[in-house]
Formats: sequence, structure tokens, C-alpha cells
Amino acid sequence: MTDPAATPELFTWEFATDPYPAYAWLREHAPVHRTTLPSGVEAWLVTRYADAREALADPRLSKNPVHHAESPGARGKTGIPGERSADLMTHLLNIDPPDHTRLRRLVSKAFTPRRVAGFGERVQQLTDRFVDGFAARGEADLIHEFAFPLPIYAICDLLGVPAEDQDDFRDWAGMMIRHGGGPRGGVARSVKRMRAYLVELIHRKRAEPAAAGGADGGAPDDLISGLIRASDHGEHLTENEAAAMAFILLFAGFETTVNLIGNGMHTLLTHPGPRAELQASLAAGETALLETAVEELLRHDGPVELATWRYATTALTVGGQPIAAGDPVLVVLAAADRDPARFSAPDSVNLARADNPHLGYGHGIHYCLGAPLARLEARTALATLLTRLPDLRLAADPGDLRWRGGLIMRGLRTLPVAFTPEAGQRN
Ligand code: HEM
Repeated sequence: MTDPAATPELFTWEFATDPYPAYAWLREHAPVHRTTLPSGVEAWLVTRYADAREALADPRLSKNPVHHAESPGARGKTGIPGERSADLMTHLLNIDPPDHTRLRRLVSKAFTPRRVAGFGERVQQLTDRFVDGFAARGEADLIHEFAFPLPIYAICDLLGVPAEDQDDFRDWAGMMIRHGGGPRGGVARSVKRMRAYLVELIHRKRAEPAAAGGADGGAPDDLISGLIRASDHGEHLTENEAAAMAFILLFAGFETTVNLIGNGMHTLLTHPGPRAELQASLAAGETALLETAVEELLRHDGPVELATWRYATTALTVGGQPIAAGDPVLVVLAAADRDPARFSAPDSVNLARADNPHLGYGHGIHYCLGAPLARLEARTALATLLTRLPDLRLAADPGDLRWRGGLIMRGLRTLPVAFTPEAGQRN
């Protein structure tokens, strides 16, 4: 039995700033820990690497909220406000096989690593455009001016949202990130509008595929057109399924990437040794360290603190702890990825870490579908910032930085930086 008095307080302001000491305590003393979440719901937190990996791959732990003992009847738990009323439930993060297998196979046909690789130049253009916005100024907020807009415009481009409509998505995403996905009326309304927009766009692209251009007003070879065309044994996505899929790609790929860039830059700016190594390697035109660095930054302080919800479909044990049918189980990726039983010197930053099977993108059948895009964006973002603004430095006391206190995501509200203004700024 653990001593309840010794259990660290979770979900406080201090915890949001630095949850890692509390996670170290849980891993050691209460590796599968029942807690009351700020919402009042009771759930199990799984913090050891081996247990976390096993739980993520356990088919008895369902993603479908109908299995939650406390809320029979579907209730969205991905944190997307209004998802139930907006009919966005049928997305990958809320369903189990065989539906999951079918939908994932279909979307994988459209969202291929090849499509993402072909998108590299566009991501570089967008990255340069946002750096151009502040490069001559000598100071910036890397969250608002860089990490926030880059992923939303990148995903809009990839999906094939016309350029003139992309600012609407930015506004909607800003609303989501400001309100942390809470059940605010305004956010729920935005989600509804977004869904209506996507259904309409899909309808239009289906009706006139050739005319349905992407950001450049041309290429019909965008991801939404790919989703419409994707077929498996003669089966296609319905318009509603395609809309839910486009929506989950936007939702799952937005705040995660903002925070990967934000947390990653924060780590580099507060760890001068590793940062200097990375900068030297970029200056020498190498990419190998950049690739391992993005994985290490994701392991060390990744954007997804807890994997999305799972529910026990039957009584089972996780890490030796009995769990009742219907109980929610939250796998704490941030804790598992600092488990000393799996990673040597887990609290330090080793950008060249070779043995790094981190769980930052999850594990098992729900493994992140957007990992190739996230890697592309993060590599481009970090390399561009460190190359164009080589003396970039934090313009605030690290202790004064404010973290968003969300349950699933971990990220900074602002990341003020200063640097020598770039001469002869590009356009
Ligand atoms: C699933 C992390 C970026 C799309 C996941 C999961 C994690 C994750 C941990 C598994 C959740 C679970 O098992 O409960 C991340 C991180 C990212 C990132 C750390 C960026 C740094 C993206 C991007 C996209 C994306 C850019 C797409 C544009 C998805 C989708 C799923 C998913 C569709 C659900 C897959 C399924 O259920 O089969 N992601 N993600 N993610 N991610 Fe990502």
C-alpha cells in the first residue's frame, strides 16, 4: 500500500510547470495509480515504460467511450468539445477493430509517407515565411508567431483547404488552443462550423475533382481528394467518415506539433551543450543528429503527456494492479519515456541517443498516423530557426514561463526569444 499522505499532488500549477518529479515518484511507489482527475472522473495512471507499452497494445483496453462504467452511452473523451453533437465520433481515436482496422487502412492509402515526403519543400516555404515575419525584429514569441501557425497552415495545405479559407482554420485552432479544448460554447460552435465546412469541401471535391485545387489553386492531389478516392476491396469512405477523418487529422496534428516545436525549442534553449552540438552539425550540412535530436526532444519533453483514454472492457491487471471492467486507464507517455528501467540517464538530453524506442507517438494499432509529417515539420522548424537565427536565446527567466495545464497535452503558453536581427531578410 502506498502512503496517501506521501503521494505528490497532481494537476496543480507546479505540476503543470514540471510534472516529472511527481511522475518519478509514481513510477517508483505507485506505478498504476488511481486518481481523481480535475473533471471529477476517477482513472488509473500507468507510469512505468514496460506497463505503458503493454497497456497501449492490450486489446482489452478499448478506445470506445461506451465502455466507460461512469458514462454508459457514447461520450467523447478525446477532448474535442462538441464532438458528440457534431457527429465526429467515428474517428480513429474513438474506435476499436474491426472498424478501426478498416478506417485506418483506408486513410493510410491516402496519407502515405510518400505524400508527406513530397510535401517537404512546401513545409520549408511555410517555415521561412513565418521566420521572415519576425527575423528583422530581434525578438519574437516562438509559440504565437511560429510554432502555432506553422502546423495549421501545413495541414490545411496538405488536406487541400483553399488558401482563402485557411485563415478561418487558424482562428478556429487559436480558439481551441486558448481554451484548452474545454466544453466552451464558442469552441463547440467553431467545431460545428469546421465540420460543416469540411463536409461541404468534400462534397465539392467529390463533385468536381479536377477543379478542387489546393493552396496553389491547382493540384487536385491533396489529401482530401486522396481520402475520397481511397478504396479497399471496393469500399470507400462515406462523406461523413471522410469529414471525421479530415477533422481528426487537423485536430491530432495541430496542437501536438505546436508543442513538439515549442517544447523542443525550449529544451534546446535551456540546454546549451546539446544545442551547440546540433548547431555545429547543421552548420556542417549533416542531418543525422537532427533526426535523432527530434526523437530525443520528443522523449525528453514530448507534447502528449497522457495517451488518449482507454477503458477496461473486462476485469484485468496492469502491472500487477487489478482493474475493474469499465475503469478508465490513462497511459502516461511522459512518465514512461523517463523510466530509468528503460532509458539510461533519462532526465538528461542526449541528442544522439541511439537506443530510443520512446512512446511519444504511442504504440500498437493507434500508433500516430501523422508521425512522418510531425517529424518533417519539427526537423524543418528546428533546423531553420537554429540556422537563420544562430544566437537565438530565451528572453525570459525559465521559471517565469507558463505552461498550459491541459490533461493530455503539455505545452508552453509563450516562448519569448531574442536574437541578432537577420540582415537582408528574405521574402
Ligand atoms: C495518434 C502523438 C502529430 C495524426 C497519436 C497517438 C499519439 C500521437 C501519442 C496515439 C494516441 C493513443 O494511443 O491514445 C503525436 C505527436 C505528434 C503528432 C507527439 C507531433 C509531434 C500528428 C500529426 C497528425 C497526427 C501531424 C496528422 C496530421 C494522428 C492520428 C492518430 C494519432 C490520426 C490516431 C491513429 C489511430 O488511432 O489509429 N498521435 N501525434 N498526429 N495521431 Fe499523432
